[in-house]
Amino acid sequence: MAYLPYLLFIKPIFGTTLTLLIILALTRNFLYPQLYANLPPTLLSLITFVPLAIYFFFHTIFKSSAALPPGPLSIPIFGNWFQVGNDLNHCLLASMAQKYGPVFLLKLGSKNLTVVSDPELATQVLHTQGVEFGSRPRNVVFDIFTGNGQDMVFTVYGEHWRKMRRIMTLPFFTNKVVHQYSNMWEEEMEMVVNDLKKDEKVKTKGIVIRKRLQLMLYNIMYRMMFDAKFESQEDPLFIEATKFNSERSRLAQSFEYNYGDFIPLLRPFLRGYLNKCRDLQLRRLAFFNKYYVEKRREIMAANGEKHKISCAIDHIIDAQMKGEISEENVLYIVENINVAAIETTLWSMEWAIAELVNHPAIQHKIRQEISHVLKGEPVTESNLHELPYLQATVKETLRLHTPIPLLVPHMNLGEAKLGGFTIPKESKVIVNAWWLANNPKWWKNPEEFRPERFLEEERDTDAVAGGKVDFRYLPFGMGRRSCPGIILALPILGLIIAKLVTNFEMKTPLGTDKIDVSGKGGQFSLHIANHSTVAFSPIMV
Ligand code: HEM
Repeated sequence: MAYLPYLLFIKPIFGTTLTLLIILALTRNFLYPQLYANLPPTLLSLITFVPLAIYFFFHTIFKSSAALPPGPLSIPIFGNWFQVGNDLNHCLLASMAQKYGPVFLLKLGSKNLTVVSDPELATQVLHTQGVEFGSRPRNVVFDIFTGNGQDMVFTVYGEHWRKMRRIMTLPFFTNKVVHQYSNMWEEEMEMVVNDLKKDEKVKTKGIVIRKRLQLMLYNIMYRMMFDAKFESQEDPLFIEATKFNSERSRLAQSFEYNYGDFIPLLRPFLRGYLNKCRDLQLRRLAFFNKYYVEKRREIMAANGEKHKISCAIDHIIDAQMKGEISEENVLYIVENINVAAIETTLWSMEWAIAELVNHPAIQHKIRQEISHVLKGEPVTESNLHELPYLQATVKETLRLHTPIPLLVPHMNLGEAKLGGFTIPKESKVIVNAWWLANNPKWWKNPEEFRPERFLEEERDTDAVAGGKVDFRYLPFGMGRRSCPGIILALPILGLIIAKLVTNFEMKTPLGTDKIDVSGKGGQFSLHIANHSTVAFSPIMV
């Protein structure tokens, strides 16, 4: 209650005073210096600094009495924006956590950002108070790309999200789906191996492996989704799909639009950017609809009663025809899978391969494990569980190079309590999953790529989305909003590493001795800064 007079009177009065002072300083120094020529300098200093001092005094007192989390002092309108800038990446937030503690608050213009950097508090946000913190914050650009929350990934916690998650689970996220499609995944992976073997240049000069793996992952996901595939990297539909998705990622992940998102006053300057997003989204959804969704509708209609559901989108269209979701929701599910499933898994593959090239001894150990355990049998989805070192390599990749280092932001719809502090309602709540998995307080030499840690001191640590959870290791999040795609991503990653390592020695191209594993981040992502060129030298058996 003590906070009320501050909110109602002191904050607006001093906020206005501060704004007037800024105008005063501008007019005095730059625009109309002659107006102030006759005033004594001490008086000018007093009228400038006394209200400022009072503002900051009350701000500090009342902020602590409302028990908001600690954080840098903020100024009206802009908050901490000038101090922290746009690029709020996992490293910057980790260094701020060392100064302000395991939960701290930043004001970004009109928005509150709460940053959580401790396993206990992460348990609170994702599990114990999973309902309270289970929403997603709105953002001017994501409102466009999700049709104001008609999707599943970015929608608020509630009835719509529950329905979408239930409808998506059956066709995408069950063990039955994994068993149904794992042969197809292997088939796509074998094609990669064959392509790499065919090309002589690949053995010495190497190739940018991302491009071929991208085609493989699009084919895996589009075969599961639509029973459709792309012929090659030159297939016009592949070129168009990847262009649409990468432009969507670029616009959504950029830090360029933060100023207009944080500070409503500046939003008119974003008009051009938002129009670009709207135009792209219209054309992109029309593309998915015309070439994929409509085709399945036609097949379903032609088969009538006899139609057997044969891919994920058939299930989704079926749910729409039963009136559970709208036609737009169907398209937003396609949109979500395109962004959530493909790039994340592709980034993880690129990191894993780059680290394996830089650590030939680890490649050798995976190969030895496979030949020792499987005795010449091929690696398949059903025997992956017999290969702990391979699995440890996947885990270590996701620990050191967490593809979504801050998870997808959470939000508390109502005011909430966290670690003894008050979290104002509708705060964006970020869990720094990368820091939880790379803090030397909790991990031995965290900067080292060492899969052995998951068989030695960390043998009980698993990337799981439920059950017994170690909250220092959350590459897929945890709890209600955790990644349902973990059930597909882990075996796909294990299989591709196994296929590549058993068929090739992966090396740096002739004349180089290390792959650059430095990273580059966006609003939600961490990916390799330079796509690696890798030489694949076939292993003769
Ligand atoms: C290595 C690959 C992947 C990683 C690291 C990853 C990571 C994540 C993370 C961190 C979240 C947010 C968790 C949170 O907010 O607490 C998430 C959400 C999600 N992921 Fe994944 N993901 C991967 C692959 C996939 C795949 C293959 C699919 C689908 C086929 C998928 C579908 C989703 C969906 C639908 C959500 C939103 C869940 C919700 O809001 O309820 N992901 N993922």
